[in-house]
Amino acid sequence: MSQTGQVRHLAIIMDGNGRWAKKRHLPRMAGHKQGMENIRRIARACDDHGIKVLTLYAFSTENWARPKKEVSYLMSLPVNFFNHYMPELQERNVKVKIMGYPDKLPAATEKAVQRAMAETADNTGMILNFAFNYGSRAEIISACQELAAEAAAGKIDPAEIDEQSFSQHLMTADLGELADPDLLIRTSGEERLSNFLLWQLAYSEFYFIDRFWPDFDEDDLQTALTAFANRHRRFGKI
Ligand code: FPP
Repeated sequence: MSQTGQVRHLAIIMDGNGRWAKKRHLPRMAGHKQGMENIRRIARACDDHGIKVLTLYAFSTENWARPKKEVSYLMSLPVNFFNHYMPELQERNVKVKIMGYPDKLPAATEKAVQRAMAETADNTGMILNFAFNYGSRAEIISACQELAAEAAAGKIDPAEIDEQSFSQHLMTADLGELADPDLLIRTSGEERLSNFLLWQLAYSEFYFIDRFWPDFDEDDLQTALTAFANRHRRFGKI
């Protein structure tokens, strides 16, 4: 976690695609399409800012409850995104990571995300981390189940479970010291976490902006990063 003004891990809740579309009398899908295009713009800008990890909340475990047509459109977006942008991701040495429950995805979506991860596995630049079919409570419960199973098998002593060993069982474990975001941005004016990274955001700075995700641009990003640089993170100390 960064103690200086530099954001190393940025997390974004990309909210407001539906309202962006509605404002223009367009179907909700048009908002999601524009939202996907905006990932390219903002990922580029983050890379240019030297951000090491960009985590994007793209589909939550609760989003399955949306109309079937919308869910199936959202499921097609990773296929579309990687088909179009893989050359640029490679050129920029970006490593793709997916956080969530990939086995529950439609076959074509799962194939696209697995392939994107495999093709960029050796890249050493910015990590573009999609939370896709992700839910933080489910993630925490999985971690508890794994630790409980290890304790029941006599492999660990329950009294020795600490924050570090717990973090090792979360989906961000492979990010190492970058696991916890420095800054969380949520677009669209809503101010809640919606089951996103509940553990990892414990000491993060929050930035809410009243702008729909498809409209969130490089200048907004710059403003958010500047706001972060001016905050004083104390991590519970004085
Ligand atoms: C929230 O807006 C946005 C989503 C649920 C989907 C976000 C997904 C993308 C931007 C594209 C994902 C692309 C890839 C490559 C994984 P909302 O629909 O809840 O907006 P509303 O609150 O205005 O209705």
